Amino acid sequence: MVDLMETRHGDKGSPRSTVLDCRGLAVGHGPTVVARDIELSLREGEVLALLGPNGAGKTTLLNTIAGILPRCAGEISLGGTALHNGRPAEANKRGIVLVPDDRALFTRLTVRENIQIARRKNGPQLEQMLDLFPALRNRLKVAAGALSGGEQQMLAMARALVQKPRALLIDEMSMGLAPVIVENLLPVVRRIADETHAVVVLVEQHVQLALEVADEAVVLVHGSVRLRGPADELARNRERIEAAYLSSDEFV
Ligand SMILES: Nc1ncnc2c1ncn2[C@@H]1O[C@H](COP(=O)(O)OP(=O)(O)O)[C@@H](O)[C@H]1O
Ligand SMILES: [Mg+2]
Repeated sequence: MVDLMETRHGDKGSPRSTVLDCRGLAVGHGPTVVARDIELSLREGEVLALLGPNGAGKTTLLNTIAGILPRCAGEISLGGTALHNGRPAEANKRGIVLVPDDRALFTRLTVRENIQIARRKNGPQLEQMLDLFPALRNRLKVAAGALSGGEQQMLAMARALVQKPRALLIDEMSMGLAPVIVENLLPVVRRIADETHAVVVLVEQHVQLALEVADEAVVLVHGSVRLRGPADELARNRERIEAAYLSSDEFV
């Protein structure tokens, strides 16, 4: 197995420290709050599946953690240090990297150029990305816009990884992709967390597949957390997830 990056902590016996911490977070658009009372705490190498129906506030939450949207209330800290509100460049510099659902590629640039532009000093090399996503190896000179959906998603992930994320936020990577491609891509997310110790917040509509790679899961419905727990436990109790998806404010 390729070692994606040197491990951040040589001492394997040390307890894993908290990387991303959200306290009392409320998120929204302008004056409209769409989700509130969000509490998230992820330790090194943890994958959180952020589940919930359309319109629940998942994208708004990811964009807020990335600093793209100002938060309405609460605190976000990375590695124990608070992030200023609504400062995407600061959040990114500190190691928060968002893979948006539209993938945000430079469609007229080649695969190689897309990766080189994103790569951070000391970030993983192009070659490591090609080991992780072998399908990109023969596509280096192809414009990103000419790739298949699956290849575009791999490129979006590679672009994120060469920034050496401490917190990787992935919004609906499977949008428009065949389930078989998602089945191949999600284990890579697990591997990234295991090997780099980055934390991952994974927004995913394929609930079962997401639970297979995640450590914890949170179900967001109408802007509040309706259910949370260890991913393996929730995977064995799908009816609880389905009930949460179907729950409405009146019943909670
Ligand atoms: N740019 C925006 N301006 C105003 N409201 C928005 C905007 N984007 C999303 N919303 C609203 O915020 C709520 C949550 O949306 P979103 O975070 O996209 O949900 P999800 O990603 O879970 O489907 C929805 O009611 C949506 O209509
Ligand atoms: Mg969304």
